[in-house]
Amino acid sequence: MASYSPLQMHDLDHQPEDTEGDILLPDKHTPEHSTADPSSKRPAWAALVLQVIAVICACALYNVASASVSGQHNVQKLRQPNQFPGIELVGSPQQKQRAPKLYFPSAIVRVNKALPDQVYNSGSHVILSDSDSMFFQWHLGQSKFTSCYIDSIVPTVEDGLAANKSYTSSGSITEIQIWNVTTPVEGMTNLSWKTRPQRIALMGTVAFLPEKDKIEQLGLEDGWQSQLATRFSCGKEAAVITVEVACNSCRLEFEQIFSVPPLAFDLMEIG
Ligand SMILES: *[C@@H]1O[C@H](CO)[C@@H](O)[C@H](O)[C@H]1NC(C)=O
Ligand SMILES: *[C@@H]1O[C@H](CO)[C@@H](O)[C@H](O)[C@H]1NC(C)=O
Ligand SMILES: *[C@@H]1O[C@H](CO)[C@@H](O)[C@H](O)[C@H]1NC(C)=O
Repeated sequence: MASYSPLQMHDLDHQPEDTEGDILLPDKHTPEHSTADPSSKRPAWAALVLQVIAVICACALYNVASASVSGQHNVQKLRQPNQFPGIELVGSPQQKQRAPKLYFPSAIVRVNKALPDQVYNSGSHVILSDSDSMFFQWHLGQSKFTSCYIDSIVPTVEDGLAANKSYTSSGSITEIQIWNVTTPVEGMTNLSWKTRPQRIALMGTVAFLPEKDKIEQLGLEDGWQSQLATRFSCGKEAAVITVEVACNSCRLEFEQIFSVPPLAFDLMEIG
């Protein structure tokens, strides 16, 4: 039911492999799911036809969505955050928002303590280490959804590899810190370690694990998203959300690219 804004992940949910739906969406156990379930009593050929139709629809939607946003989401454009206020990431205001969404950040900026004056452009390369922190920013519009949280979205190894997405890590990546920080007046360009936004408060920690492992390893229960420490109120009015992502005694590196399946730090709408 959630979508990867501006992609309509809602519809991709209906793919034969529903793992993406699992990752994207806590409340994915919709009745439609079971109708496409090959294990149902429906004859195998009928299930197959349904799956083929679902894949075709999903691909068509994906292409439409990619075409309409390709100007904003490729890596080259990410390197020009000035032209990239981010509002368009959440869709036009007249667009009806019926399902909760997953939002890709409008800026992804590295700062490096070891090179305190170094300015990095916003880009896809995410690196966390003892000397590297990442700053993420989202421009949220009004929404009927009143609760949001920030989390890692990690595909299973197999799903990631199928899309050429992987990450390297060492140390504990189950307690990655998400800090609320000051909003940089001049935007997300020209940030260095020295000029980085200042921490206001630790919103919480998140585990960098596929959702299934998160639930298993952290002993989470149904509806755990609503308990998340990184949850905050949103939707009443447009807002700029800026966070620092950091970790202690650990290292994590990957490319955060706007495509399915997400491998990302993203903002989720709920409730
Ligand atoms: C796979 O991903 C790596 C790193 O993200 C990239 O350098 C490479 O070009 C990609 N390969 C393909 C076939 O897309
Ligand atoms: C971040 O801190 C500011 C200032 O205290 C506060 O207004 C804002 O609501 C906080 N944002 C989040 C997402 O916690
Ligand atoms: C970037 O920041 C540095 C140091 O804070 C400053 O000297 C420089 O003028 C800034 N450049 C731009 C283009 O704002």
